[in-house]
This record gives sequence, C-alpha cells and structure tokens, in this order.
Amino acid sequence: MRGLVAQTRLHPQDLILPAFVAEGITQARPITSMPGVVQHPLDGVAAQARAAVDAGISGIMLFGVPTTKDARGTGATSPSGILNQALERVRAEVGDDLLVMADTCLDEFTDHGHCGVLDSRGRVDNDATLEIYADMAIAQARAGAHVVGPSGMMDGQVAAIRTALDGAGLQETVILAYAAKYASAFYGPFREAVQSSLQGDRRTYQQDPANITESLRELDLDIAQGADLVMVKPAMSYLDVVAAAAQRATVPVAAYQVSGEYAMIAAAAAQGWIDRRAAALESLLSIKRAGAQAVLTYFALEAAEWLAHP
Ligand code: PBG
Repeated sequence: MRGLVAQTRLHPQDLILPAFVAEGITQARPITSMPGVVQHPLDGVAAQARAAVDAGISGIMLFGVPTTKDARGTGATSPSGILNQALERVRAEVGDDLLVMADTCLDEFTDHGHCGVLDSRGRVDNDATLEIYADMAIAQARAGAHVVGPSGMMDGQVAAIRTALDGAGLQETVILAYAAKYASAFYGPFREAVQSSLQGDRRTYQQDPANITESLRELDLDIAQGADLVMVKPAMSYLDVVAAAAQRATVPVAAYQVSGEYAMIAAAAAQGWIDRRAAALESLLSIKRAGAQAVLTYFALEAAEWLAHP
C-alpha cells in the first residue's frame, strides 16, 4: 500500500555522479573530508564512467584538478588540459550510454582560485571571464561533453556560451546552468577535493543565503539566455528554492547535494550516529519531493545500488 500511494519515487536515472580527475597521479587519491570519494587518475576515469553506466544512473559531471595553475586558468581551455582529456577518455568509453557533463568554471585552474579572471584591482572581471567561458565550453564540447555546466555565476554566462557553441557548430551541446548557486559553507570539502587555492570567498558573484528573489531572477535570466536545464545548489538547506524554481521554471530543474552535505551524512554515519543508507536515501527523496527532476550527488553509485536491492 505504501508503494501504491507513494507520491515521490527515487530512481537511479534521477542521479548524476560528480567525479574528480587529477593530473599527475597514478592511483586514486582519497579526499579526507569526503570519505568514500576519491580523485581519479586520468587512467581510472573511464572505469568510473563505466561503473556509472552499469549502475543505471544518467550522467557523470567531471571536475579537473590540474598540477599547474595560472592567473588566467589556461588549463581550462587547452585541449590537453586535464578536464578536457578526461572528457575525451570518458566519452570514448561510454559513447551515448551516459551523459558526459563538464564543470565550466575557472576556479580549479586559476592560481588565485576565483571562478573568473581578475582585473587590475583584483576583482573578478565578469565580462573578460565570459570570453574564456565561451572558449572553455567549446573545448569541452569538442572533447566529448554532451552537457556543459557553467557554475561560475558570471552575469551573461549562458548567453555567451550558447552563442559560442552555436557559432562553432555545436548546436547540440546542452547547457545545464547553475542558476541559483549560493555562497555556501557547504562547499568546504569540495575545495579540498580540487585543491582550491581560494583565499576569501565568492560572495561578489554567488547568491546570498538570505535571499530567494534574486535566485528566481537569475533563473529567469538563464532560461531566457538558452539554459536547457537549471540547477539549484546546495540542495538540503535550499529546498524552498528548489520548490520555487520547480514551480517557475519552464525547463527541468536539477539540484546539487554538495560536498558538505555528503560529508555531514558520511561523518555521522562513520560515528554510528546515523544510518548512512537510510539518511542518504531520505535526503535524496526529499530533494526530489521538493521538485528536482535530477540530483547531483556523491552518493549516486551507492544509492543506485541500494535502490536496486531495497
Ligand atoms: C565551482 C564549483 C564549486 C562546486 C561545484 N562547482 C565550488 C565553489 O563554488 O566553491 C561545489 C561542489 C560541492 O561542494 O560539492 N567550480
């Protein structure tokens, strides 16, 4: 009876796995603040993508961790950059059996750790960054990404990327826009995962946790600029935003259960204070109930396994 009347169901196809690929390592390297999550070597990423196909999830979102960084984030646009190489390997492995997604943002590649390039006064230069995002998206699509995911929260990023992709004959590349991305403390473990060099914070370009109206404006702008899907991030502390976005958006809405959300459940479960499986599945179900059609989660492979063996 509970199955018959359940209003929300979680399915492996709802899930997307974020994965880190690090340059210059030969073995998977654990991420201390995200127990169970690793940085993959370039040679290991195809196997991870194959595991995602076998688990029946819908996609993999790749993040690159380069060995050298510079002020302009050159590694992001170069075809030999770690992320673009990883995209190539993954796409060769999975073809169209899995959505291959790329984080389209400079923070992993810049020595100052910001999501964009800086002006002479050390502030993030929005419009100069857009030109680099356009080149980055083209490089990612050429390397094999089905989906690019601009996560840097620059104004106009979706339009700039759409125009660039179309101009390069890449009309079929999908844009998953981080429409409402908050300046959140829950990204802490991610910054270890990508060995971020950021000093300070991203409050000049990410959303204020106090606000929802400006997030809905960002959502409208991204859709008007050509976003194919929009995302709210983080998920669990922002379920009201997920719900409002789902009501309002004319494209599918995704939510990102971020590193700190994963770490909280993983840490409490490791202490025996919480049931890892039950807590993870409940959190994912709640994100769906709020209105997300897709969920990016570090639990994706595990959750798919749990769902296959209830
Ligand atoms: C930026 C980006 C971040 C995350 C995804 N893309 C970090 C940030 O804004 O500092 C965070 C993801 C997570 O915490 O799991 N490229």
